[in-house]
Amino acid sequence: MPRRRSLVDTTGTFSLLDDLTPPLRWPEFFGDDRPVELEVGPGKGVFLAHAGAEQPGTNFVGVELAKKYAIISAARAVKAGLDNVRVVAGDAQKFLDDFVPDRSVEILHVYFPDPWWKKRHRKRRVVNARFVDRASKVVKLGGELRVMTDVEEYFREILDLLTPHPAFEPIDESRVESGDAWQLQTNFANKFRIEGRPFFGERYRVLEP
Ligand SMILES: C[S@@+](CC[C@H](N)C(=O)[O-])C[C@H]1O[C@@H](n2cnc3c(N)ncnc32)[C@H](O)[C@@H]1O
Repeated sequence: MPRRRSLVDTTGTFSLLDDLTPPLRWPEFFGDDRPVELEVGPGKGVFLAHAGAEQPGTNFVGVELAKKYAIISAARAVKAGLDNVRVVAGDAQKFLDDFVPDRSVEILHVYFPDPWWKKRHRKRRVVNARFVDRASKVVKLGGELRVMTDVEEYFREILDLLTPHPAFEPIDESRVESGDAWQLQTNFANKFRIEGRPFFGERYRVLEP
């Protein structure tokens, strides 16, 4: 007999990008004026739930391409009783380009973006020159971009985009280190930590370019 899934009402927490009207106004979107942090590709929403519970004074929005995962993320936040988490199902680049107002995000989080190993698929990587440029505009001056990946080659590519960019200044002394320094809570980070697999991250301050 198939196992029954518990149904969680995600109304108010989950939205389809296609149902939203650009540009967003965060106070309307969240219903209050707490500062906003944005996660690209939250997967199953472990970071959003953890951060939302740890920082009740901050609103968190995740934009997740896979609708199935976006719903899982939203359901996790609802089950945890969080009123400061929202999840949008859609493409992060489109969300950043058309929906997120300039200089409106405190911290932009990107954790374990899909590596798209095959050369012909590389252009699907979410962190690319266009993404970085838009990130430099949606994050508030003095805010942060935080990136973590287990794929060293992707990490080097990200560093090559960010290091020469005039809007980004690295915060951490060491550029390549175990993500354990941050005690980052995501599904992938927790899995890799148990496996003893290294991962690489950097935090950047966003400055006037
Ligand atoms: C490898 S998973 C990592 C999930 C989570 N951040 C973690 O650390 O456990 C990458 C996630 O990014 C999502 N993703 C990939 N491309 C995306 C895009 N263009 N916009 C939004 N999400 C995207 C995938 O659907 C997937 O859920």
